[in-house]
Order: sequence, then C-alpha cells, then structure tokens
Amino acid sequence: MTVDDLSAVSDLATRIHPSFPEDAEVFAERLRLYPEGCHVYVDGKSPTAYVLSHPWRALDAPPLNSLLGELPAGPATYYIHDLALAGEARGTGVAAAIVDALAEHASEAGYRTMSLVAVNGSARFWRRRGFARLDIAALADKLRSYGDEDAQFMVRTL
Ligand SMILES: CC(C)(COP(=O)(O)OP(=O)(O)OC[C@H]1O[C@@H](n2cnc3c(N)ncnc32)[C@H](O)[C@@H]1OP(=O)(O)O)[C@@H](O)C(=O)NCCC(=O)NCCS
Repeated sequence: MTVDDLSAVSDLATRIHPSFPEDAEVFAERLRLYPEGCHVYVDGKSPTAYVLSHPWRALDAPPLNSLLGELPAGPATYYIHDLALAGEARGTGVAAAIVDALAEHASEAGYRTMSLVAVNGSARFWRRRGFARLDIAALADKLRSYGDEDAQFMVRTL
C-alpha cells in the first residue's frame, strides 16, 4: 500500500464495512506507522482487497476508529487491524494467502503470536487460519466499541 492507494482503500472500506466506519486518517496513520504491514491486492486496475497490520501490545486491541499515536515500545504481538475483500475477491484463496504472508512476516520479525478482533461473522474464517478465541475481561469495553455483539478477540501462536 502507498499513500496513492489510500482513497481507494477508504472507498473499499466504506463498501465492505458499512457497520464499522473508520476515518481516512486511521488508514493513513497505520500506513505511516507500519508500511510493511499495509498491503493492497489488485486484480485488474484497482484494489479489491486490503490489509492493515502492525506490531502491538499483547492481549490488547485498539478501539475501533482510533488513532494509535505511535507503536508501543517493546510490542509483543503482531496485530491484524483489518483484512477486507470486496465480494469478487472472496472465496478465491486471496484472504488465506494474505494471512500466510503476514504470518511469515511476523515470524521473521520475531513475533510469537498474531492477534485480532474478529467481526462481521468472520470468526470461522480466522479459526481455519489457526486463530482461537480468548476471553479477556479487560477488553470488554474495547470490543463493545465495534458495535458487534459477536466481536471476539482471537490469537494465533506462530
Ligand atoms: C473474512 C474474509 C477476509 C474471508 O475471506 P474469504 O475469501 O471470504 O474466505 P473464505 O473463502 O475462507 O470464505 C469465508 C466464508 O465466506 C463464504 N464466502 C466465500 N466466498 C464468498 C462470496 N463471494 N460471497 C459471500 N460469502 C462468501 C465462505 O463460504 C465462507 O463461509 P464459512 O466461514 O461460513 O465457511 C472476507 O470474507 C471479507 O473480507 N469479509 C468482509 C470483511 C470482514 O469481515 N473482514 C474481517 C474483519 S475481522
């Protein structure tokens, strides 16, 4: 992902995630803080999928639509903020390939876990990719910020 992709990424997010709105600045900040973790998948002329990910504190999840300010000193997990595919890219193996590539990057960078908040009925997909639900009482408020009663914090050991 480059700065030039940000407007297409915001448009995709609005289309794919109408229930989980995030400001354009959230995408721009993730790209600025950790460009190695931000990618688009282009099939044809414009992106049909994107992923935003970055190192983060273990057992923690930033609230939806929030700026991070900076990455924490001594981050302990590799956090997937958002993976989103337009309908035409789903069921093609692109999502699994993206997760595999992130896992390889995270392993090479020395992380032992990946984590995320699964929303939008995606937990089955994440379970198939090796993630398991972790119930952490301290995260309840942050999970509520997603406005999805099925939002769940999930972790995969690398
Ligand atoms: C979650 C997501 C990344 C998974 O990618 P995918 O390519 O759909 O993954 P899979 O091919 O493994 O399919 C996942 C599920 O969607 C179904 N599916 C596959 N292609 C589909 C399509 N074109 N349209 C609708 N559903 C489809 C599959 O049957 C499967 O259902 P199951 O989990 O009940 O078995 C993708 O569906 C997506 O971007 N969804 C919208 C954004 C989102 O929710 N992101 C996750 C935020 S944590």
